[in-house]
Amino acid sequence: MANPPIPSSDAPLLPILIAPHARLKAKARAVAKNDDDAVRAVIPRMFATMYTAPGIGLAAPQVDLGLRLLVIDLMPDNKPAPIVMINPELVAASPELAVREEGCLSLPGMYADVTRPARVKVRFLDQTGARQELEASDLLSACVQHEIDHLDGVLFVDHLSILKRNMIMRKLAKEQKLKK
Ligand code: NI
Repeated sequence: MANPPIPSSDAPLLPILIAPHARLKAKARAVAKNDDDAVRAVIPRMFATMYTAPGIGLAAPQVDLGLRLLVIDLMPDNKPAPIVMINPELVAASPELAVREEGCLSLPGMYADVTRPARVKVRFLDQTGARQELEASDLLSACVQHEIDHLDGVLFVDHLSILKRNMIMRKLAKEQKLKK
């Protein structure tokens, strides 16, 4: 990736919103010039939170920040490969679809098969403000689409049948209740 590595070892962790939560359903706003300081401060904390969870992607709305910002690290070969996307936009999607099991840090312990375009092209700004374009397939494609969905208030369960979604939400509510 074009992005330089992000040190995240000792950044303070952020609490992750758990579904159902109204702010997980809200559309995030574009990052603007005067968000620079906030964005720069929160990126290492988002990585630390994601690595600790552990997860492979985290979108700003999940840590209660309504900005179009997300972080991803698929850790290929168990090595960090951090990606920061600011104001990401899907500019192309393959007609072929792919099914992949997805989970989400905002729906801990819940997994389901989700069907999405197999490949996508995404344009975004990296953490230096440079324009980037990425063609993603396989896991990265699903991850990018899942995280961009978060910026539009969409969760992976919103891609499932109402029946399946309700089943997962009930199970999640039950498990969250037991945790308290
Ligand atoms: Ni998620």
